[in-house]
Amino acid sequence: MNVRIQILLTQDGSHTLVHPELDETYHSVHGAIQESKHVFIQAGFTKAIGLHQTISLLEVGFGTGLNALLTLNEVNDMNIAAHYTGLEPYPVSEKLVAELNYPQRIGNAQVLKNGFMLMHQIGTGVQHQLSPTFTFEKRSDRFQDFKAEPNSFNLIYYDAFSPEKVPEMWDVSIFKKLYLMMQPGGILVTYCAKGTVRRAMQHSGFMVERLAGPPGKREILRAVK
Ligand SMILES: C[S@@+](CC[C@H](N)C(=O)[O-])C[C@H]1O[C@@H](n2cnc3c(N)ncnc32)[C@H](O)[C@@H]1O
Repeated sequence: MNVRIQILLTQDGSHTLVHPELDETYHSVHGAIQESKHVFIQAGFTKAIGLHQTISLLEVGFGTGLNALLTLNEVNDMNIAAHYTGLEPYPVSEKLVAELNYPQRIGNAQVLKNGFMLMHQIGTGVQHQLSPTFTFEKRSDRFQDFKAEPNSFNLIYYDAFSPEKVPEMWDVSIFKKLYLMMQPGGILVTYCAKGTVRRAMQHSGFMVERLAGPPGKREILRAVK
């Protein structure tokens, strides 16, 4: 699935990738880092650390690893314990990852660059200590095939390609499965605010809030179990 994937510069100066077959970018063209910080860090991670002592996080659609890198940066600054599981059935090549400008743009470049490359280099299904309080694991399962115990996660970054391009990733069956994997009080955040997606979440048992989106996007969703 990663044939002919191209790098694109977004409006905040950070890179994203373009998937040619889907004709879709991995992040907002208005700013990849800006969007990831707004949706996943501010609406998700920052909220979760106010509620849970240890963060047990699942990302659906690990992709470039930008959300994981921003989370590692937060964890290092705040000294919070986090276990991060990134699901990615179609990994981005290491060569392409090495060209992405995220470590430089986020700051703390060398430390982050090492962590960023390691995230992509380590094998799947192996827990890796990327910093004293950040444990990282990558899994190659499609979410549909991924198995986890009930109550495994208290934070979900839901970052699949859009419902227009991959409607099966936004089906009620997906949110029911996520709901079962989550701890009570667990939070799910996503960039997508479509009415059908919000209703699928509500139908699965979540309480759903619409929050203001990053530049270029009116709203995003945060769901709580
Ligand atoms: C919007 S991009 C993710 C962006 C990513 N979070 C980042 O920061 O680069 C969607 C990702 O979902 C992955 N994906 C596609 N099908 C999937 C599936 N069935 N389960 C989990 N992930 C999937 C794609 O390969 C792609 O990397």
